[in-house]
Amino acid sequence: MRKKIIAGNWKMNKDLEEGMGLVSEISNMLRDEYQGSAEVVIIPPFLHVNAVSKLIADNPRLKSGAQNCSNHKSGAYTGEISAGMIKSCAATYVIIGHSERRQYFGEHNQWLAQKIDAVLEAGLTPIYCCGETLEERESNTHFAVLEKQISEGLFHLSPEQMMKTVVAYEPVWAIGTGKTASTAQAQEIHAFIRGLIAAKYDASTASEITIQYGGSVKADNAAELFSAPDIDGALVGGAALQSRSFVDIVKAMA
Ligand code: PGA
Repeated sequence: MRKKIIAGNWKMNKDLEEGMGLVSEISNMLRDEYQGSAEVVIIPPFLHVNAVSKLIADNPRLKSGAQNCSNHKSGAYTGEISAGMIKSCAATYVIIGHSERRQYFGEHNQWLAQKIDAVLEAGLTPIYCCGETLEERESNTHFAVLEKQISEGLFHLSPEQMMKTVVAYEPVWAIGTGKTASTAQAQEIHAFIRGLIAAKYDASTASEITIQYGGSVKADNAAELFSAPDIDGALVGGAALQSRSFVDIVKAMA
């Protein structure tokens, strides 16, 4: 059975002290309140990854991750962070191709494919984000956009590498807007993505891959989203910045 994963992407929020407080609260609440099966991932800014990993080391349900990484292993790339460095901070996941990286930092599919390779080579799990803009959805080009993002970012991978990759469907129009995709809209795209993977690889590979939904996931819409057969968890932004709302989202996953 495929893994259910709820990840909290803090984006550029929380200083070290605030972050440590939030992680402690989440860890304690999960111990007391959650017996379900989901893996819970804390994805703070780079600077806090090491401290977060140390703080959660005694809670097997919790993992840590990073929001981005370099496509290079090391060298003269001022300001960059490599997958190896992230691994050395005991993190397990790296978000690749978040729409904010695509939109504000010019990250394109070919570059992201190299980042995916760097993450896998370091032995970490990439969370590869894809999603259409409102304009693309309204002009009915969203399937083509998603197919291009998935095929150009991921389809150079071997079946074994593909199995180690998590996909996150995050419609750009739903991120930080309070406008969630309906469960039917999200399920349609998740099934479409799984179909693309089945066509490129095979049905059993496709059925093993975790596909998260992201975009204004909240405690009050999570359970409905998670009831869809192809939605295997969530990548949470705003609601991950507060322990109660984040833990309630986790609790929505049986
Ligand atoms: P949001 O962000 O939950 O604030 O919409 C989701 C994301 O960007 O991963």
